[in-house]
Amino acid sequence: MIRPAKLEEAEAIQNLLLRYTENGQVLYRPLAEIEANIGDFLVAVIDEKIVGTCSLKTAWTGLAEIRSLCIDPGYYRQGIGTALVRECVERGLALGRETAFVLTYAVRLFEKLGFTVVEKSTLPMKIWNDCKGCIHQERCDETAMVLPLIPLQKNDPATLAETG
Ligand SMILES: CC(C)(COP(=O)(O)OP(=O)(O)OC[C@H]1O[C@@H](n2cnc3c(N)ncnc32)[C@H](O)[C@@H]1OP(=O)(O)O)[C@@H](O)C(=O)NCCC(=O)NCCS
Repeated sequence: MIRPAKLEEAEAIQNLLLRYTENGQVLYRPLAEIEANIGDFLVAVIDEKIVGTCSLKTAWTGLAEIRSLCIDPGYYRQGIGTALVRECVERGLALGRETAFVLTYAVRLFEKLGFTVVEKSTLPMKIWNDCKGCIHQERCDETAMVLPLIPLQKNDPATLAETG
């Protein structure tokens, strides 16, 4: 089940993130930051256990960033990551954002949802503020990917199908 995160789940969310922050797969988030932005986070819950999380930052006009996508390794390849990203895209649509973007190593997952690779330089400068906290900031090897949301707003969001 995918649902919005609750404040008391901030620590469980951080524990999931911590599995991947050391090698830089996802950005470290202090507990206070997760708590302050708990409304951005979704969780995937199985048997009352949080097995995945993802957040959507919508602080910029027109843009929605998918971030902190993490799945418990015991639950990989069951479509949970895909389901979380889909839900984030739906949120971005509901908030009227024009473009969803992500900086990621999980290129195939996002490609299957219709995201396409773009040059990092095409993303607005204002998004790079967070990179200050990243261990890869000097040699960023993440892939920037975008999904235009305007065409989805005009159609049924259910058309966000896996494109294979
Ligand atoms: C990347 C990650 C989120 C994928 O989560 P998941 O729930 O296993 O993903 P899904 O089951 O929805 O996979 C969807 C597709 O993504 C691709 N994919 C997922 N994991 C993959 C892997 N390890 N290697 C290659 N392709 C992969 C596959 O094409 C997969 O489809 P398939 O299973 O039908 O072949 C998870 O492995 C993870 O938490 N990784 C560490 C943190 C990270 O890199 N997060 C992304 C930051 S944006």
